[in-house]
Amino acid sequence: MPKIRFKVSNSLSSLKLELLRYRSVYMVFDRNVEGFASQIGRYPSFKLDAGEDNKTIETVKSICHWLLMQGADRGSVLLAVGGGITTDMAGFAACIYKRGIRYINVPTTLLSQVDAGLGGKTGVNLDSYKNMLGVICQPELTYICTAALETLPEREMRSGAAELLKTLIIGGGRHYEKAVDELSAPQTVRDLAPLIKEAARIKARVVESDPDEKGRRRVLNLGHTYAHAIEWYQHAHGVSDPYSHGEAVAIGLVQAARLSEERGICEKGLALKLEEDLRRCGLPTTLPCPEAELQEAILKDKKADGGKVNFVFIERIGKVTVKKL
Ligand code: GLY
Repeated sequence: MPKIRFKVSNSLSSLKLELLRYRSVYMVFDRNVEGFASQIGRYPSFKLDAGEDNKTIETVKSICHWLLMQGADRGSVLLAVGGGITTDMAGFAACIYKRGIRYINVPTTLLSQVDAGLGGKTGVNLDSYKNMLGVICQPELTYICTAALETLPEREMRSGAAELLKTLIIGGGRHYEKAVDELSAPQTVRDLAPLIKEAARIKARVVESDPDEKGRRRVLNLGHTYAHAIEWYQHAHGVSDPYSHGEAVAIGLVQAARLSEERGICEKGLALKLEEDLRRCGLPTTLPCPEAELQEAILKDKKADGGKVNFVFIERIGKVTVKKL
């Protein structure tokens, strides 16, 4: 069983110490976090435009080509500094360059700190198909520096909050209620640190039990069946101000609770409770279109298996179960 290493800190000092262990360090960072990345150290760097349209095999090829020109070898480490798009692409480049060099994620958005930057999923889009090319390959370390969140736009914080709450619904029990209280009031990054740590701990434990997503890891897709369908719908209909991934996850969580109630998997009232909690945290909770319009996308979801979808139901807060839809 691989050990998932992560550290949560409000400063970069122990990351700097960790980096002394490597013969050479290279850094890929999102140009939006250049100031933060420069505080880590003066390493040869590749600046990335971390947009979904740029999340391509060509960009990964450019990173690999740059590593080659820099003379990176199997003793080197690649630091990925940015949100999920950056850590996905830099991680993928590290995993295929010279058949794999080590990499460290330094996720800088709340969403990537509690989800995308942890667990070793790497990859790029193939045309309009999201994350179709990639590998699961664990970073040496995910270094979660909460100071990076100080300048994160409000809407991105809320988007990350949805993934944070998702993880606490999966395994957080009492931490969930505390998180709703924290996230629904003005909070400082320091207030959030223990919750981020708890979410990272839960995710790490799930990934350790099933790194290749053959079974248990599927629980991390809670809320994502509807979220992916909403994202597909908005893209297909050219919606001008689409829900972000986290916002779509929030809506998906309410749908998961609703279906769980309908099947008698959880007690009545859970969907309403989640709806109220998520609204308090500034997140949307209603579908952007009639549900029937999402069915096509739900069946197309890459988690569909023999015409059935592995759907994550909620038994209660802190316990979920995967069943065919
Ligand atoms: N984002 C879900 C996972 O890492 O498995």
